[in-house]
Amino acid sequence: MIWNTRITKLTGIQYPIIMGAFVGLGRAEFAASFSNAGGLGILTAVNFKTTEEFQAEIDKMKKLTNKSYGVNFSIMPPEIRERTGRGRSEDSYLEFVDIAIDAGIKVFTTSAYKAAKIGKKLYDAGCYWFHKCATMKHALSAEKDGADAVTIVGLEGTGFKNPLQNSTLVNMTMARKLLKIPIIAAGGIGDARGFLAALAMGADAVCFGTAIIPTKESPASNSWKEALLKQDIFDEKFHKKIFQFRLKDSAIGSMAAGHCDEIISIKEFIDKIITNAEKILKGWGYQTNEFTTF
Ligand SMILES: Cc1cc2nc3c(=O)[nH]c(=O)nc-3n(C[C@H](O)[C@H](O)[C@H](O)COP(=O)(O)O)c2cc1C
Repeated sequence: MIWNTRITKLTGIQYPIIMGAFVGLGRAEFAASFSNAGGLGILTAVNFKTTEEFQAEIDKMKKLTNKSYGVNFSIMPPEIRERTGRGRSEDSYLEFVDIAIDAGIKVFTTSAYKAAKIGKKLYDAGCYWFHKCATMKHALSAEKDGADAVTIVGLEGTGFKNPLQNSTLVNMTMARKLLKIPIIAAGGIGDARGFLAALAMGADAVCFGTAIIPTKESPASNSWKEALLKQDIFDEKFHKKIFQFRLKDSAIGSMAAGHCDEIISIKEFIDKIITNAEKILKGWGYQTNEFTTF
């Protein structure tokens, strides 16, 4: 089946599936396997301290895939950066942005804090800027700043949490009404039903985070992968971490962990989402060979 959405059209990817950004994990082998399987792999720039290291990773990407991929710039909110001494500012990435543009990369994601300066640089270079945020207010503001798409992370998800965060259902159905630009669903999605549901709610693509940590290409440790497979998402402590903002800064999976039941390759993961989604569509009586959200 051909998958045709505003995001596949804009990026040229086969499926409306985007890799999350990952501090620690978002490196070339992982990202390239995602792109090679038909999604949009993402290199997470925060993992590279110097411009030389970043350039070397891009060179590695060139050897591993000829498909399109993106780069993420995660920006630490200034008050947290000042308090903890961790994370990076928007300005600290500007040279990295130039390197990636020069390398011919077309799609960029920013996250966690506003990134209008990077957005403007990308606009001037004819590239696409997708901003990821946790609230509708920030999504509206990214659209105003010129973002080409926004990813909104639902409360079921992990990463930066916000007391005003909504569920993926509220985010997508409302974003479809309030925003003109394409929207990407993230948060708690780990199987074909969640994927299709997000598209039905109005998403133009789905971003996977937790669900792809226990894959063969993911550089997460085996013990972390095993822990995700065993995670009881209905456990009270886990539930509180996710829904009552007790996540702190720990690298923990989200509610999507409920769908992690085997360690498979990225290709198997994406194929499984698509094959099962197509089966569900056929079961509903969908007969054409093209799925389109236009
Ligand atoms: C271990 C881990 C590290 C992450 N690191 C980042 C990061 O550096 N920048 C970012 O924008 N999001 C980060 N995220 C969030 C993901 O990119 C994605 O938005 C989120 O995982 C989506 O929710 P899900 O896990 O329910 O799929 C991270 C998520 C995990 C699980």
